[in-house]
Amino acid sequence: MMLVLLGPPGAGKGTHADAIRAGLGVPHVSTGAMLRMAIEAGSPAGQKAKTLVESGDLVPDDLMAEMVRDRLDQEDARGGFILDGYPRNVGQARDLDGILAKRTSRLDRVLSLVVDDDEIVRRLSGRRTCEECGALYHVVSAPPKSEGRCDRCGGALTHRADDRPDVIAHRLSVYRAQTEPLVAFYRGRGLLAEVDAAGTLDAVRQRVVGALR
Ligand code: AP5
Repeated sequence: MMLVLLGPPGAGKGTHADAIRAGLGVPHVSTGAMLRMAIEAGSPAGQKAKTLVESGDLVPDDLMAEMVRDRLDQEDARGGFILDGYPRNVGQARDLDGILAKRTSRLDRVLSLVVDDDEIVRRLSGRRTCEECGALYHVVSAPPKSEGRCDRCGGALTHRADDRPDVIAHRLSVYRAQTEPLVAFYRGRGLLAEVDAAGTLDAVRQRVVGALR
């Protein structure tokens, strides 16, 4: 399964990619998580990306293409993957076509998670992320068993730097201007399924699984 999850910030791409990856037997490839790791490590790519990620702007396409190509070349992604956060504009979609064409493969499906802006703000303002393993929580809808600690690994839970209200608003406008056109792009290719991502985590998960059948 070569799958792309599209959707605005906070739609639930990371949450659902994580929930379905074991069932599909493919890795969850999150470009946002890869960038945050590169920033944390202080690598050359991380240094180039830092200010852009923290302000909610897109990192240049060439840097992203190199990062995604290297990741998809790894053994665990040869048979498939769930891409979360890539592509983010039509140029990146064409870069992805090129990356997949070199391995004589192509996308099977693109799921677009649809949710309104008020719900996005509620989700992002309450999101907490484990700084050790990346597990996702929400202070209301998916709280950890013990406050501030990850259920999986005991790591500390943090609030992402780009989840401040002003940066959320900017990320949303970047999504509408640059990423949303991919909905029509992939619909035109017959790959798109839209999923109503409002409602409980379980309800949305069932819709995601249903859209993959
Ligand atoms: P990235 O990390 O990809 O951020 P994003 O796309 O803005 O998406 P999020 O991770 O914020 O949200 P999500 O949809 O995964 O929601 P989640 O599952 O966490 O990118 C960050 C930055 O990196 C970008 O701004 C850009 O600068 C850069 N970047 C990344 N990729 C790039 C690229 N390709 N090109 C250029 N730059 C790039 O859920 C959110 C919260 O809601 C959680 O707390 C969750 O528990 C909760 N929740 C989820 N579903 C539900 C539900 N149904 N009910 C209640 N709560 C729910």
